[in-house]
Amino acid sequence: MFTRSAVRALTSQSRLFSTTVARQTKVAVLGAGGGIGQPLSLLLKSDPLVTSLSLYDIRGAPGVAADVSHVDSASEVTGYAADKLDEALEGVQVVVIPAGVPRKPGMTRDDLFNTNASIVRDLASAIGRVSPTAHILVISNPVNSTVPIVASTLAKAGVYNPSRVFGVTTLDVVRAARFTAGIAGVHPNDASITVVGGHSGATIVPLLSQSKYGQGIKGEVYDKLVHRIQFGGDEVVKAKDGAGSATLSMAYAGAKFTHALLRGLNGEKGVITPTFVQSPLYKDQGIDFFSSNVELGVNGVEKIYPLGPLSAEEEKLMEACLPELKKNIEKGKAFVESS
Ligand code: NAD
Ligand code: LMR
Repeated sequence: MFTRSAVRALTSQSRLFSTTVARQTKVAVLGAGGGIGQPLSLLLKSDPLVTSLSLYDIRGAPGVAADVSHVDSASEVTGYAADKLDEALEGVQVVVIPAGVPRKPGMTRDDLFNTNASIVRDLASAIGRVSPTAHILVISNPVNSTVPIVASTLAKAGVYNPSRVFGVTTLDVVRAARFTAGIAGVHPNDASITVVGGHSGATIVPLLSQSKYGQGIKGEVYDKLVHRIQFGGDEVVKAKDGAGSATLSMAYAGAKFTHALLRGLNGEKGVITPTFVQSPLYKDQGIDFFSSNVELGVNGVEKIYPLGPLSAEEEKLMEACLPELKKNIEKGKAFVESS
């Protein structure tokens, strides 16, 4: 007999991973020894669409791999030490990157730029050399800049395909559903919210007006909800009190996005989720990358959806989002140009 909470846990597991198994898929995690990397590796080991898992970090990946490899799912797991990056990338179709330093209280994501920009550039450069056709899922912050860094690094190497580079903004989508459901008194599965823009503070724009349960939230409750979605990361950074930022919810979100991409790569139609990609939506304002609903398919990005109708409040949020996002993107591109 299952208890009610066990049934709920199983239900959410089946929501995280659908059960259809198709082609062979080798996935690499770069930064697998870290706070996100470890639980993300565990969740990917449980994903039936992952057939082989390649775990790399400058510290501790072989130990994580030995541990995770005992989980009784069919996939094979191999760990790679610091000097084995090229081996780790051999033959991979999907590379997830949570490598880099996290925030401490009082820091913005942009404060991580100086350390994480070169980590992400060097990993992208290795991917471009060893597995140039891999799909790259960037978790490392600041995402608004690290995604342009990956794109520009691959472009410099002559192997950039915009359909294959994604900034993972799924944690914002997960938070928006959870927080909105809490206010509306419904299950988060029923309160899915499209979150657009980028992944930091004012660049995170939840489109509550397009949601059945979000559209009725008004006034002070609306303002507080938007603030909580935009600054949910700070809530965790503060609570962890110097020990880092979101790791467990991020691992969940990273595994969820990876699974969605694998479903698309396997030929499933109608897999649509927000993600930060090279986008035409605001190109006329000099903004090359933007998160909106994207259909994932056999080539990665199949279709980028426009935002749809916005409320007056959302128009204002977009006004605050765009200039900051533009600055973050330009900073990433300039870093690679001057490298
Ligand atoms: P962490 O410090 O716990 O782990 C980072 C790991 O990266 C460490 O194991 C470290 O050894 C490894 N690493 C460093 N340089 C590397 C390199 N060159 N190659 C391979 N591995 C390397 O940090 P964390 O909490 O796991 O966070 C990782 C990153 O993810 C941070 O930048 C954080 O801000 C970001 N993050 C993003 C989101 C998001 O929504 N996109 C959410 C949470 C955290
Ligand atoms: C988050 O949204 O939790 C992450 O981007 C980590 C952070 O620095 O807040």
